[in-house]
Parts: sequence; C-alpha cells; structure tokens
Amino acid sequence: MQNFIVTGGTRLCGELELQGSKNSALPIMAACVLVSGKCLLKSCPRLTDVYSAARILNCLGCKCSLSGGCAEIDSTGVYGSEIPEELMREMRSSIMFMGAILGRTGECTFSIPGGCELGPRPIDMHLAALSKMGAEITDTGGRICCRMPKGRSKGARLSLSFPSVGATENIILCAVTAEGETVINNAAREPEICDMCRFLRSCGAKIKGDGESCIVIEGVEKLHGCEYRIMPDRIAGATYLAMTAAAGGELILKNACVPETEPFTTVLEQTGCGIYTAENRIYLRRGGRLKAVKDRIRTMPHPGFPTDAQAVLMAVLVTADGTSVFEENIFDCRYRHTDALIKMGADIQVMGKAAVIRGVPRLHGADVEATDLRGGAAMAVAALAAEGTTRIGSISHIDRGYERFEEAITSLGGKIRRE
Ligand code: UD1
Repeated sequence: MQNFIVTGGTRLCGELELQGSKNSALPIMAACVLVSGKCLLKSCPRLTDVYSAARILNCLGCKCSLSGGCAEIDSTGVYGSEIPEELMREMRSSIMFMGAILGRTGECTFSIPGGCELGPRPIDMHLAALSKMGAEITDTGGRICCRMPKGRSKGARLSLSFPSVGATENIILCAVTAEGETVINNAAREPEICDMCRFLRSCGAKIKGDGESCIVIEGVEKLHGCEYRIMPDRIAGATYLAMTAAAGGELILKNACVPETEPFTTVLEQTGCGIYTAENRIYLRRGGRLKAVKDRIRTMPHPGFPTDAQAVLMAVLVTADGTSVFEENIFDCRYRHTDALIKMGADIQVMGKAAVIRGVPRLHGADVEATDLRGGAAMAVAALAAEGTTRIGSISHIDRGYERFEEAITSLGGKIRRE
C-alpha cells in the first residue's frame, strides 16, 4: 500500500494543463462498444479506473490499447456480452457498459455493483428504464441478465424520478441504436453527458437536447468510428484551485472548462480569492486570510454545486474566518473525509445531511487514510495548508481519479512524495 507524504506551508505557484475528464472518458469508452469500427480517444486520462474500463472492453472482444494519453479502441469484433464479477467490483462505473452492450448485442450479463464508499448506490432507475425499452431482466444470485427478446431495443418515453447521471448515460447508450425515438424527461445535465453525446454524434448518432432536462434520441442502425478529444476534467480543476486557495499562491489552469466550472468557482470566490477567467483559462490568486461562505453550500445536480467538489471545498473552509455550512443532497455517506480533517485540527460537526465548519487559525500534520476518491484529494488539500507533515494512506482511491497527482503538485512548488 502506498502513501503520500505531504509537508504543508508552501505557497503554490504556476500553471497546470488539466487532464482529460474521468467522468467523460469512462462512458465514452463504454460508448465505443456500440461502434462497428475504430475510435481514437485523445486526452484519455491515465487512471486506474480507465485501465479497468480497458479490461472490460478487451473482455468483450474489443481491442483496446492505451498509450501516450490516447486510447485506441477497435470494436469491430465484439463477441462477448458478459462483464465478469471481479471487473464489476473494481469499478462502479462498469455499470455504464450495460446500456452499450445491450445496444450492440441485445443482451448483457453483469453483477450488481453493490454499495461503495459513498453509501448504497442502487441501479433501480437504470433497470426500470431498460425494461421500458424492451429488456427482459432476470436476477440469479446477484448476476443480472438483461435481454432484448427481439434483439434490438425499442425507443420509449421515460421520466426519471431524479436526474441520475449514470441512468441518463445508460439510457442514451441503449437508445442510440434502438428502433424508434427515445425521450428522457428530467435527464441529468452534467457536462460529461454532453461530452459523451458529442462523441456519439461524431459516430453518427442522432441526439438532441443534451445539457437540457429533455433529451431526444432517434435510433440509427449503426455507428461508425471517429477521432475525439475528451473534455478537460472540471473536478480535477476544482481540486487544484482548492489547493491553491488553501495553501496560498497563484494558479493558472490552462485548458479549463470555464462555464462548466462556474458552479464551483462562484462559491470559491466568496472566500476572498481573486478568480479571473478568459477563454479556456482560470486564474486564481489568494493573498490574505480566507473568509467563510455565508450561504449554505447545497450539493445539487448540475448546474448546482457539484457533490464531487464538496470535500475539496470543505478542506479550504476549515481554515477560513467564520462558519460555513454544507448540505450534501446527492449521496448519503459523503462526509467520511471529515474525521481526517478533524484529526488535522479542523472543527467540523456533521448532523445528517449538514456539516458545520467553524474555521480554525491553522491545521497541523497527521496520519490519515483516504476514504474515497474526492475525500482523499481533500486530505491532500488540507495537508498542503497545514503546519508540518501529513501521511495519507490508501491512496489507491486518489489514483482512481487524478493523473500524476504528485507531479502536478510538485510542479507548483508543493511538497509531496509517494512512498
Ligand atoms: C456520477 C459520477 C460521480 C458523481 C455523481 C453525481 C461518474 C463516473 N460518476 O455518479 O462522480 O458524484 O454522478 O454527480 O460519472 N440513484 C438511485 N438509483 C439509481 C441511480 C442513482 O437511487 O438507479 C441515486 C444514487 O444512489 C445517488 C444519486 O441517485 O444518491 C445520484 O447518483 P447518480 O447521479 O446516478 O451518480 P452516478 O452516475 O453513480
């Protein structure tokens, strides 16, 4: 098991080029299953979750190779429709393959991904939608089999009870080669869904309305290959901005998605940091002390404040003057990082969905364990601002989502090493 050893108290200064988005790359890799031909994905981040997705593709008979930040995927000879249990366990996002495999082969067998670090993550909405699109679903001892009796899924009118990102993506993936039209009401509007739709359109899919709450997909017979550049990672961007805000200094994010990061930057700005944007750049400067955020920070589906940035912002606010309050509305167990922050000297009280943060003058180094991907990143944010040295264990969580994490931080002058 590897650790990060972080020594805080150094200002971060410099420029960063953002990695490609994890949450775009994974559904786009799944979407490649639908393509009868070759796709070249540029800016594909080098992450353990991406390697797991590549293993699933290879298992299905797609040829997937990763090199130099590109993924080459040839799905001409897809022969499998089963996702092995160990790959389902490795990564919850493997559920994204369900819609694509069904769309390509008319059947798919997989296991329930089960709970994860963020609490129970059911897939009832995914299954209900696929069943409306004609799938017969059977469950034998945790292995789920979905089968389209006529071989091809059929379009349907669907209304989601909550704008789930994964369910919206799975429905789109199943609908692009379905017979007829599919309408998704109350669809999720996350930028990564739009990125997946842009990729699918480059392959010949007919999709309208992504980024809005009603998406319409007209099924086509076949998709063809394409070259596509994956969008930059707005959550990695938020993390590096949070680090600079917490430790002090100046950062230029060079290929940032400016409008897509705004739900985060508008809140971060309230801490007193100077944030300026131009085209695809975000500049942040923190000079003086940080201020608490006055309004309750409520995590919401996009374009609300992103749940994936809740932990890293909290790591900033623990040393701000005054009291800030978070309300986590997306996941049940998304405050597991707070124990580590408290160990480092933070004053945090969690009460159900709410977390009350009373700013303290400074944090100190401690021995902590990453609890989940973004929670682990939040510990690094806090450690860079703390006095002394912090050891962060279980960093495989962080490696799931951040490419060359320690290199990025070191290039800004931060003191971090892997051992
Ligand atoms: C995606 C992101 C994740 C992000 C989350 C919310 C990827 C790979 N992951 O996860 O980083 O934190 O969106 O922005 O893109 N739910 C159900 N039944 C369902 C589906 C979801 O009850 O069938 C619930 C979940 O338990 C959760 C909420 O809906 O409480 C949101 O989940 P969802 O939007 O589906 O998140 P994911 O797609 O899993």
